[in-house]
Amino acid sequence: MTRKKPVITIDGASGTGKGVVGQLVAKQLGWNLLDSGALYRVLALAAQKHGVSLENEPALQVLAEHLDVQFKATETGTAPEILLEGQNVTHDIRTEKMGNAASKVGALPSVRIALLSRQRAFREAPGLVTDGRDMGTVVFPDADLKIFLTATPEERARRRYTQLKEKGINVNLGSLALELAERDRRDQERSVAPLRPAVDAVCINTDHLTIDQVVEHIMLEYRKIFSISH
Ligand code: C5P
Repeated sequence: MTRKKPVITIDGASGTGKGVVGQLVAKQLGWNLLDSGALYRVLALAAQKHGVSLENEPALQVLAEHLDVQFKATETGTAPEILLEGQNVTHDIRTEKMGNAASKVGALPSVRIALLSRQRAFREAPGLVTDGRDMGTVVFPDADLKIFLTATPEERARRRYTQLKEKGINVNLGSLALELAERDRRDQERSVAPLRPAVDAVCINTDHLTIDQVVEHIMLEYRKIFSISH
């Protein structure tokens, strides 16, 4: 029997830094990267494009099953280009509107099931680093290392605000904080795959840590698990 490829999962709420941390860890290891949130965002955009209501679960399930999405690798460890039906949507999916719509489609059980095998297919040699909400609990329960990142709601809203500003997306900090709180509540309270740490996850509070310090902490855990002494 061939051993399954190694996986590191990084879960947490919006604004904990898991996306950029995941990219840097994947880069250091030279492993594949899956930003699972992007899949939910692309599905939300596809629904908008095809006029499918976010409440219409059967239609969203069909859309998820047939979603024509491609992650086009640019350079190892950097964010890939994302194509929906051949069209570059890398930037279009990053708005808060799409984040909220993603959280609505992500609360639907049949949609999550439809996206499961697609996510697991990213587990290829030499290994996978993946970030999301349920990577360690549902999608890769046998992951070699599970990380759960936390930060206060204020800190997360501030980080998200800076991130969106840098991308040239105009937002208001107050309404952003409210939207994030609403999205967190939905992600934590949904009946399937709610946002929570796996029992065997290493939890890291990132409030007073830089991105590099979080990456270093994860690499330390990785070396412990894989018995690497450097
Ligand atoms: O991480 P990101 O902000 O891109 O995720 C957008 C939304 O997609 C989240 O608020 C969450 O509701 C949903 N999501 C999910 N499961 C994942 C990743 C994202 O439900 N594994």
